[in-house]
Amino acid sequence: MVADQRSMVQEVLAPPAISGRHLVKNYGPHRALAGVDIDVRRGEAVAIVGPSGSGKSTLLHVLAGIVPADAGEVCLAGSRIDELSEARRSELRRSEFGFVFQQGMLVDELTAEENVALPMLLGGTSRAEAMQAARYWLDRLGLAGRHRSMPGELSGGQAQRVAIARALAHRPTVVFADEPTGQLDSRTGAEIMDVLLEICAETNAAILVVTHDQELASRATRSIRIRDGRIESAVLTA
Ligand SMILES: Nc1ncnc2c1ncn2[C@@H]1O[C@H](COP(=O)(O)OP(=O)(O)OP(=O)(O)O)[C@@H](O)[C@H]1O
Ligand SMILES: [Mg+2]
Repeated sequence: MVADQRSMVQEVLAPPAISGRHLVKNYGPHRALAGVDIDVRRGEAVAIVGPSGSGKSTLLHVLAGIVPADAGEVCLAGSRIDELSEARRSELRRSEFGFVFQQGMLVDELTAEENVALPMLLGGTSRAEAMQAARYWLDRLGLAGRHRSMPGELSGGQAQRVAIARALAHRPTVVFADEPTGQLDSRTGAEIMDVLLEICAETNAAILVVTHDQELASRATRSIRIRDGRIESAVLTA
């Protein structure tokens, strides 16, 4: 078997990067997730679409261990993570996961490069190494001249590029993006979605991206539609 085929076979046999089994989440009497099953492999981009209040953000939060499920299991590369201590889960979030939100949520008092370096510094990476990685990723995202800019000096699209650099700089296994283009005009939104999907593919990360935009969802490898906390349909788009 040639090396390429071997790595393809290994990829198929490997457990999914992230998986959820029979996930249930209740908020009081309201059932936000009503038994969701989901598997996302490395190199896959899954778009999550569905009406407001259907449970999209809740699904991301439960998979990432930000919010505990009431029932079900979450596995990272085949190992249960929902039963770990909060300290261990928060460590995993820092090392294995990357997050991009609707609004960049950058720290206003730090420069672009410091914002990107921050999670790595918190994870124990040396300052020199973290700053070097931060500058590399800012360059990759087309922000070569903006290393020292403050968030307030950046356009919405530029700020989202900084947020993407921050989410990807430590080469996470799984990237969770909750409406990363929600605040942007459609052209900038499409550019941001493309760069996010391109870099996830390049780094072989799994990405789950929530979007309201059907056209943007069609750029992912798969699309999952959620309604009333259930997966209504799954469509292969690429
Ligand atoms: N912390 C919370 N406390 C109580 N109810 C909540 C909480 N978070 C979410 N919910 C409820 O759970 C349901 C799913 O919410 P969720 O935020 O996952 O929806 P969504 O699909 O992300 O919606 P949107 O597209 O508007 O962001 C909603 O009915 C919401 O009101
Ligand atoms: Mg949401």
